[in-house]
Amino acid sequence: MAELKLSESRDLTRIERIGAHSHIRGLGLDANLQPRDSSQGMVGQVPARKAAGLILQMIREGKIAGRAVLIAGQPGTGKTAIAMGLAKALGEETPFAMMAGSELFSLEMGKTEALTQAFRKAIGVRIKEETEIIEGEVVELQIDRPATQGAALKTGKLVMKTTEMETVYDLGAKMIESLGRDKVQSGDIIVIDKASGKITKLGRSFNRSRDYDAMGPQTKFVQCPDGELQKRKEVVHCVTLHEIDVINSRTQGFLALFTGDTGEIRAEVREQIDTKVAEWREEGKAEIVPGVLFIDEVHMLDIECFSFLNRALENEMAPILVVATNRGITRIRGTNYKSPHGIPIDLLDRLLIISTQPYTEEEIRKILDIRCDEEDVEMSEDAKVLLTKIGVETSLRYAIHLITAASLACQKRKGKLVEMEDISRVYQLFLDVKRSTQYLVEYQNQFMFNEVPGEVDGVETMQV
Ligand SMILES: Nc1ncnc2c1ncn2[C@@H]1O[C@H](COP(=O)(O)OP(=O)(O)OP(=O)(O)O)[C@@H](O)[C@H]1O
Ligand SMILES: [Mg+2]
Repeated sequence: MAELKLSESRDLTRIERIGAHSHIRGLGLDANLQPRDSSQGMVGQVPARKAAGLILQMIREGKIAGRAVLIAGQPGTGKTAIAMGLAKALGEETPFAMMAGSELFSLEMGKTEALTQAFRKAIGVRIKEETEIIEGEVVELQIDRPATQGAALKTGKLVMKTTEMETVYDLGAKMIESLGRDKVQSGDIIVIDKASGKITKLGRSFNRSRDYDAMGPQTKFVQCPDGELQKRKEVVHCVTLHEIDVINSRTQGFLALFTGDTGEIRAEVREQIDTKVAEWREEGKAEIVPGVLFIDEVHMLDIECFSFLNRALENEMAPILVVATNRGITRIRGTNYKSPHGIPIDLLDRLLIISTQPYTEEEIRKILDIRCDEEDVEMSEDAKVLLTKIGVETSLRYAIHLITAASLACQKRKGKLVEMEDISRVYQLFLDVKRSTQYLVEYQNQFMFNEVPGEVDGVETMQV
């Protein structure tokens, strides 16, 4: 592997699809990183958001690596939401990789390989490249077609100018073809990348603005460039280490990035890439951008994974690790020991812990308002009051789910505004956890594998 392939990854676009958290557009902080009461879809949870803001600042400054944060709290208190907000606040430039603990056990690769890939998805490399370009206005394009057929025999001349100079270039077959493909004609301002031969049309020259009628209103007019025709230009692009791995792994090829079907990547490939990246850093050609790896439901990891995390965090190129869990003191997967959050003490010791608190009635109301807007549901004031009550009595999630259902019930009776009757209708149709448990307790004899609570061997029954 003499040269690392990078160019292909530039054309990739990243697609994001989040349902439950689509209303969250950031952490809702002001310029001093203080949380606003309700902003960017985020409501309340002020201390946790403030802490997340500090993390955000640490990441932005890019100076620290290998820190880890745990977001702990009861179900539905916004742990995942805060991580999403952090991702949004970081913007496109900082890599953010996300996975759920359980995913590790469903992949067709070893757990540590999956974790390694996740870590490398969260480490960006900003690469500076100098390229030589020719930028100017096309004065004349002349292509000689020889009597014999065949594109390879075509020759031609391209005259280009800036405000200060004019040069004639001889054209080869490849350039003639791309000039033809891009329909370049005299009066165009173009940029030619000398290494790749790629042509970019910037627009039409102002000198030709009287051609306006012939060209139509979409035409963009630009000034004829000044100075030298040939220039050196610095381009910067950002890729993740994982993207470089996949592109350079011979068995995979870069299409694997689209399918997500990367399989295991050989250790030698990674080593070579790390060496190359280290060289580039020495030469000032590349910079490491530590991003964020978010592992949700971290209690699903087992003891091997936890050991891996301990070690990986000590690597110089480690990203910031953010994990979340709603578990209390529980068994560490893969052992018979219990520990807070199901996380071994040695890893816990490395974590900064942010805790989330249950929402007040007012906050629940605000979150429901935001969700109604997000889902384009219009709801009467009475209905909102009722839904908030339901949220307080059952759970925020349950209340959020009822919004869509109630809006469908409203459509069915051809109403425009979701009313109390719609809410109470769906409240009867869909049980929340409490009522469902109640029902089970009453009718348990009629279900399969029914056991009396509290009498299950070695298994603790969950308290609701
Ligand atoms: N502070 C908040 N502002 C706006 N929306 C919120 C806030 N907190 C939670 N939500 C929304 O409420 C729902 C439940 O929150 P979330 O999924 O983040 O809970 P969680 O703490 O991750 O729960 P679990 O422990 O079950 O994973 C989501 O739709 C989330 O977007
Ligand atoms: Mg969650």
